[in-house]
Amino acid sequence: MTAVGIDAIEIWTGKLQLDLPNTFAPAKGEDPEKYTKGLGLETSSFPDTYEDIVTMGANAAKRLMDRRDLSPDDIGRIDVATESAFDNSKPVSTYIAGCLEQVYDGDFHHANKGERKFACVAGTQSIDDAYNWIRAGRNRGRAALVIATDTALYARGDPGEATQGAGAVAMLIDEDPSVVELSTEQGYGSADETDFLKPNQQFPSVDGKRSMQVYLARMREALEDFESVAWDTHPDDFEFIPFHTPFPGMVRKAGLLGYRHMIRGTDIEDDLEAEIGRQPRESEYDSWDAYEDAIRDYMDELKRTDRYRDWYGETIEPTLGLARRVGNWYTGSVHVARAASLKHAAEQGVDMTGKKLLVGSYGSGAQAEIHAETVRDGWADEVSALSIDDQLDRRYDLDFDEYETVHDAHNHDLDAEIEEFTQPDGEFVHTGWGRMNERKYDYVE
Ligand code: HMG
Repeated sequence: MTAVGIDAIEIWTGKLQLDLPNTFAPAKGEDPEKYTKGLGLETSSFPDTYEDIVTMGANAAKRLMDRRDLSPDDIGRIDVATESAFDNSKPVSTYIAGCLEQVYDGDFHHANKGERKFACVAGTQSIDDAYNWIRAGRNRGRAALVIATDTALYARGDPGEATQGAGAVAMLIDEDPSVVELSTEQGYGSADETDFLKPNQQFPSVDGKRSMQVYLARMREALEDFESVAWDTHPDDFEFIPFHTPFPGMVRKAGLLGYRHMIRGTDIEDDLEAEIGRQPRESEYDSWDAYEDAIRDYMDELKRTDRYRDWYGETIEPTLGLARRVGNWYTGSVHVARAASLKHAAEQGVDMTGKKLLVGSYGSGAQAEIHAETVRDGWADEVSALSIDDQLDRRYDLDFDEYETVHDAHNHDLDAEIEEFTQPDGEFVHTGWGRMNERKYDYVE
């Protein structure tokens, strides 16, 4: 069977940044280490006044198309994953196609366009849709453009405010891909949950603490489901495990849970027995609660072992390098984590070809999805072409007053007008609204 997967990746960050320990923490009267050590964040990305989900998505897509010398005829499908859409009918992909048609010869009139919604897992679901379309043989030799784009803003004063972010990831899904091949096997953990939602409102209603429990429960179900169709996973099977990263502290919990699950009944559990005992087994306890307490105690011990810390440092920590600097990009977040891990490998001179990733996506509401990826031999060229470090270094650093004004400027309920902080340079910009309240965009050379 021909390999299908991610052939190219581009990332576009919002052009402003908020420094969490040095700007946000003092204004909030909080200890900076709550953000750096607790949540694991340094800065978050924000959109400048002329940026939105369309401009960021179109800018990421244009970079990708330019770099791979693609024309609209090469693309048979444009799927946008977002939870920041501003229209309940017209999909963001039509706006992005319209932007791209301003700068390329030809058009996307014969490309299928859509918009995917399931909180943060929608980016991965869009990749699935593209994968299935190609596997079904309906692509006529063309590739799919998947764009995950969000302005992940919370209401001022919400505990989630520290985890905000804005940016887009564009990915080309194709046969014989350069970056990673996707496994056919997938695991799901899905349930009707009320942890994070936006019932016709811009900013989410969030039950933050519960959302973390739901994330872990669904992720565990997804891993068990993946193993039921793939194989019993072992920590050494994977070079990296990129998870959906609302903030790195969440992944710290997910990594421990995953490791505990994967080592059960393996040589690693045997090796650790003398130090921390064996894992509790449900049959040894009278109640589920007692069993869960024992598991929690075991995990407290496990996370202090050198064996676990080494594994975490090598397999999980590298996935967080970009998230620490950008915050939560919702639908793009797990794809940022994948890119961060491959970027780290390239910087360390690790040959990743043929190595495996386990990718854990999650969306509130709630659904986790887990699949494996095999790295392909074009990965290093693709990853070294990313300009994300430069983009991050060039962000305008907001002071707290400016941050408050930017937040207001992006609040759909307010009419705040402010000057931009940066100058557009070779990019799409939002210029205003048309007669039917549609958004208008131009390309600025
Ligand atoms: P909070 O309640 O303000 O923070 O907000 P906290 O008091 O729980 O502290 C956070 C961590 O910092 C804790 O670590 C503290 O101990 C530590 P933990 O105990 O959990 O390991 N801490 C410190 N560490 C060092 N020095 C200090 C210090 N002070 C505290 N001085 C919360 C946290 C997650 C609730 C909030 O950020 C929130 O509501 N976020 C939004 C919801 C969210 O991100 N949930 C994650 C799972 S759901 C998900 O991922 C889906 C999502 O992406 C949406 C989608 O799918 O569309 C959100």
